[in-house]
Amino acid sequence: MTNPKRFHVKSFGCQMNVYDGERMAELMAADGMVEAGNADDADLVVLNTCHIRERATEKVYSDIGRLRKSARIAGREAPMIAVAGCVAQAEGAEIVARAKVDVVVGPQAYHNLPRLVAEAAAGTAALDTDMPMLSKFNQLPARRKVGPSAFLTVQEGCDKFCTYCVVPYTRGAEVSRPFTAIVDEARALVDAGAREITLLGQNVNAWAHDGLGLHDLIRALDRVPGLLRIRYTTSHPNDMTQGLIDAHRDVEALMPFLHLPVQAGSDRVLKAMNRSHTRDGYLRLIERIRAARPDIALSGDFIVGFPGESEAEFAETLSLVGEVAYAQAYSFKYSPRPGTPAAAMGDPLSAAVMDERLQRLQAALNRDQLAFNRASVGRTCAMLVERRGKLPGQMLGKSPWLQSVHLLTDAAIGDVVEVALTDAGPNSLTGVERVRAAA
Ligand code: SAH
Ligand code: SF4
Ligand code: F3S
Repeated sequence: MTNPKRFHVKSFGCQMNVYDGERMAELMAADGMVEAGNADDADLVVLNTCHIRERATEKVYSDIGRLRKSARIAGREAPMIAVAGCVAQAEGAEIVARAKVDVVVGPQAYHNLPRLVAEAAAGTAALDTDMPMLSKFNQLPARRKVGPSAFLTVQEGCDKFCTYCVVPYTRGAEVSRPFTAIVDEARALVDAGAREITLLGQNVNAWAHDGLGLHDLIRALDRVPGLLRIRYTTSHPNDMTQGLIDAHRDVEALMPFLHLPVQAGSDRVLKAMNRSHTRDGYLRLIERIRAARPDIALSGDFIVGFPGESEAEFAETLSLVGEVAYAQAYSFKYSPRPGTPAAAMGDPLSAAVMDERLQRLQAALNRDQLAFNRASVGRTCAMLVERRGKLPGQMLGKSPWLQSVHLLTDAAIGDVVEVALTDAGPNSLTGVERVRAAA
């Protein structure tokens, strides 16, 4: 196999994988390779994978098959395939055995990608699933041009060990990047075009460095010239400090949106999940957050059909949803994951029961999302213009509450415009431009 010249990175899973995918692309571009717009034009395809649910993992193998088939049909040589991300970490050499891929690289080792690709080109499958803490960040090239809304990973890994979850095994232990490294990267992102930065971590609100907490970091980023909006995700209820809650009251650039997964509404299920918070503790926390920032939009994650979940316990999830009234949320059927404690628990629920519960939960969440969007109609808010829409003169962007807004305007990507929200659907709003703010 010759050294590949044109690469394509395809990321699955969470926003942290999106960030890692961008950094891998920067790394290979700095190594002299050219980025191809799609996988069929590339002689190196990096699949940056997710292991969170069984279906996510299986997708990797179907994708590998599809890539090879499409090359065969076109009469091209099959591309070199590198499997990165959480499946790489979890399955390691098994992937080479099962799918004969060329490179397997874990989420903490991808700074070695160029070397691994060169090894594979020389004829041996290359594997690196070491977990050196944070060392990848010191070995990545400078940030290149980014869109107006950028991701910035500040914290890696997880020590919470929820019993259903693979993340502590695929990403390793909880570690925080140093304060100055983050502020420097934020400045670089602003220089590269970012107006909004979303701080990322599996437990982003557990970020801690030199006695500082996430709220200190947010207050420091608030002083970075040109950075207009700050967001962060994903937060764990137990790491939601008063300092962070206060920042939502005080820091104007900190957007009024919080993704705070609860997973379930029954204390028995929460305990079996090892969530270490109760239903009541979560609801009281929401009250305190809303007291500090009354217009905050709340988001969550839910799992239905955890082993042994009874109908009455599921009803407690529905009633919690009714109490919180989320602006948006993600909900999933429980998927047993190899090696996790929950996978060894008895009492699995049937697919039919899980389907039916998921439908009821999603109906409730969709109802609340539409209600939240409709309640925004009549408000005036700032909108960050992020990309062109389908219609002539139409632009798309986000409200402070992370809703998608469509707008007819001659504003440019990266501008902040003041809009009156005039119409709402389940997934987006329409706005009319008021006054142009200086970007
Ligand atoms: N660190 C974040 C995100 C974890 S993964 C957090 O703690 O919220 C994103 C979501 O996937 C989780 O919040 C959970 O709702 C879901 N999830 C994780 N493991 C799962 C599993 N085995 N089956 C179904 N959903 C799962
Ligand atoms: Fe997984 Fe729980 Fe950690 Fe979130 S807090 S990543 S759900 S173990
Ligand atoms: Fe998936 Fe790994 Fe993210 S399992 S959700 S890509 S941390």
